[in-house]
Amino acid sequence: MSYDVILPAAGSGKRMGAGKNKLFLELNNKPILIHTLEVFEVDPQCRAIYLAVKDEERTFIRSQLQQYKISKVKAMPTGGDERQHSVYACMKEVVAGAIVLVHDAARPFIEQATIHRLVEAATEKGAAIAGVRAKDTMKRVENGIIQETIDRSSLWMIQTPQAFDFELLMQAQVKAEQEGFLGTDEGMLVERLDQQIQIVESNYENIKITTKEDLVFGEAILNRRQGGN
Ligand code: CTP
Ligand code: MG
Repeated sequence: MSYDVILPAAGSGKRMGAGKNKLFLELNNKPILIHTLEVFEVDPQCRAIYLAVKDEERTFIRSQLQQYKISKVKAMPTGGDERQHSVYACMKEVVAGAIVLVHDAARPFIEQATIHRLVEAATEKGAAIAGVRAKDTMKRVENGIIQETIDRSSLWMIQTPQAFDFELLMQAQVKAEQEGFLGTDEGMLVERLDQQIQIVESNYENIKITTKEDLVFGEAILNRRQGGN
């Protein structure tokens, strides 16, 4: 089952505090962005990659794509001020006809098996997003005071990839745009259409590289994988 993937890569990595786009930082001598791109480059089901970038980073990224032999990038539109706008910029380039996957460029450890389960679920149900079960006890807090404990059994921590029927995602994005609604993931936009979304259980290694300590976790994950266990 083929799919197209949108990778928003136009952030500035403020929480990383590296003074540059965190996606250019290296894990085991390879940029985070390339680690993520390679997952899709080698997946035979992936038809095309759409990458949202900052204008001033486009030339550098193009040279990196050449250096690492990434051939599936079909368009590199300019990202927006918000992640949602970067994803929308890519959607305008996507050729309709396959399932569309949206995946944070900052999540390099996504596994092919999870991607394929998402594509399958989205083909069947229209929408499917990756997540893991909450591990900690969850409480709602207001002004520093515990209000209640929330039943953890129904709580999931949501990740990307998020997979959608093309028309459905487009419809959700157009509606959000028209109504000035800003969501933190595509799932939030699609929920507003009264569309059911399937959860696909991913794993705890699919972290988003966000702060400095994530680089340490990231190298540990890579080293363990390269060790073959
Ligand atoms: N992203 C994007 N356009 C934006 C903001 C984010 O394409 N305007 C991308 C990032 O490059 C990243 C993904 O969306 O791959 C998830 O965002 P996040 O982890 O928040 O990255 P940054 O926004 O770069 O980091 P920060 O929020 O710490 O500044
Ligand atoms: Mg951000």
